[in-house]
Amino acid sequence: MDRIIDLRSDTVTLPSDEMRKAILSANLGDDVFGEDPTVNKLEEIAANMLGKDAGLLVPSGTMGNLISILVHCQRGTEIILGDKAHTFVFEAGGISAFGGVHSRQLKNQPDGIIKISDIQSAIRVDNIHFPKTSAIALENTHNLCNGSPLSPDYIKDVAQIAHDNDMKLHIDGARIFNAAVSLDLDVKDLVADSDSITFCLSKGLAAPIGSVICGSEEFIYHARRNRKALGGGMRQAGIIASAGIFSMDTMIDQIREDHENAMRLADGINEIEGLVIDPKNIKTNILYFDIENGKDRGDELARQTKNIEIYPFEIALDNVHFFESRPDHFRLVTHYGITRDDIEKALVTLKNMVK
Ligand SMILES: Cc1ncc(COP(=O)(O)O)c(C=O)c1O
Repeated sequence: MDRIIDLRSDTVTLPSDEMRKAILSANLGDDVFGEDPTVNKLEEIAANMLGKDAGLLVPSGTMGNLISILVHCQRGTEIILGDKAHTFVFEAGGISAFGGVHSRQLKNQPDGIIKISDIQSAIRVDNIHFPKTSAIALENTHNLCNGSPLSPDYIKDVAQIAHDNDMKLHIDGARIFNAAVSLDLDVKDLVADSDSITFCLSKGLAAPIGSVICGSEEFIYHARRNRKALGGGMRQAGIIASAGIFSMDTMIDQIREDHENAMRLADGINEIEGLVIDPKNIKTNILYFDIENGKDRGDELARQTKNIEIYPFEIALDNVHFFESRPDHFRLVTHYGITRDDIEKALVTLKNMVK
């Protein structure tokens, strides 16, 4: 059996030999005491790269978003976010469960934005009947919205609204480096106006574990306490941070390659009769496509998907693995470990998806 071409997510990457060597040789200490030199170095590198005062290593993107929102929002206040935001859809309701934060979900457009007019009209006036609107969260790139990057002009406009209304702007930048590469910008330009940003080492940057939150010294001071409260204070976490430093030093070019591979996949899918995709929507490493209305599934796809009860549903066609995220709607994600040759092989398999 050929090697599996795993296009489910960019979270499935395995560390390269060089990354493993970096992990083995990491200098370590107790990070809860602030004594792990490798963690301290990673946090400094991240803060510098993003143009913020300070950084904080956390175990996951989910915890990074939760911690940031806990710092920005008091219990019983409200955060504005998109109805397709990862934080709203896939983070187990943590902000309300653990923070008592009320979420106001506004429609995400196909390119990941929330209309400025929708944001403006959602901000609550000061009245005892209403929760105070404390923060806005954006997602860049936007996972459920075609992996779209948000532009710095849009982010600036949202930040302006937030700050004019005594609110904070958080960016879920799990894939902020994908956005920067796609827009050909310095990542600083995408986060300059935000009060906090979480980015993931364990997605396009291909490290095994970890995310970093960046913001002001004061924000990180409070974030560190929340991280401890949530059980995210890790001891010799330089093991993780060393891979993160390696990623930040070496993986940006990989992201560029991932985007080219996604584009090639999209072009190839466009040529398959019965599959529908608009290659113009494909800007980063995430792509969605559909089965054309009225078309029948190929035999193997029909066999595997006949009892779907819950989406997203995992599909393995030959050795190509990916998700059906809702009926007739499929997601593919390119990442480190996926080569151009794999893309061509995957396209051959995808041809058999429809009869
Ligand atoms: C946009 C976005 N934000 C946050 C997360 C959460 O990251 P983690 O899986 O590290 O908790 C993900 C995970 O896929 C994501 O896609």
